[in-house]
Amino acid sequence: MTIAGISGSLRATSFNTGLIRAAADILSGTAEVTNIDWRDVPVYNQDDESSGEPPSVARIRQELLDADAIIIATPEYNYSYPGGLKNLLDWMSRTPQKPFNEKPVLVIGASTGNYGTVRAQMALRAVLTHMNAHTLNKPELLVTQAKAKFDANGTLTDESTRTVFAGILNTFVAWADKINAPTQPIA
Ligand SMILES: Cc1cc2nc3c(=O)[nH]c(=O)nc-3n(C[C@H](O)[C@H](O)[C@H](O)COP(=O)(O)O)c2cc1C
Repeated sequence: MTIAGISGSLRATSFNTGLIRAAADILSGTAEVTNIDWRDVPVYNQDDESSGEPPSVARIRQELLDADAIIIATPEYNYSYPGGLKNLLDWMSRTPQKPFNEKPVLVIGASTGNYGTVRAQMALRAVLTHMNAHTLNKPELLVTQAKAKFDANGTLTDESTRTVFAGILNTFVAWADKINAPTQPIA
């Protein structure tokens, strides 16, 4: 299985990018997890659609279309998820092909506070519903107090969080396989 990872943060030592790296590490041998680079995506303007997609947008669209599943690790900014991530989703929601449509998606997040991105995740799930993604409802990964659980490079070091995360990832992979399995005709 190939899984496209999206971190909602571009920060060099981002905890959320650290979650994507941890997923790649935990799932090695089971699934290949990539980290989508979206730093060059321009601000969406509908007027620009007539001149074709910017190369970064076309590249990311194809990377997401090619993936069997998607993991989004989002920070919480002002009780929601970051604007840069919304901008990326807005691009992906447009034609020609919509990579979130019917795609299994795992929403996770890490924050420095006590609520572990719960408000950001709720806001993100609402948008993904409109995009017709299949989001795993439970179990949830809400990493609180991230400064104590990642090292200075943004690597997840907290063992109990890694254990919980491994369980969630294995649940997600098994569920995504079921979602992606060809449907049987009714006899
Ligand atoms: C603009 C901004 C707004 C923030 N708002 C919230 C918030 O509403 N809730 C929260 O728990 N943390 C908030 N934070 C703190 C983030 O949880 C923290 O910066 C976190 O490390 C960001 O994720 P990253 O490490 O992946 O970049 C905010 C941070 C920034 C920069």
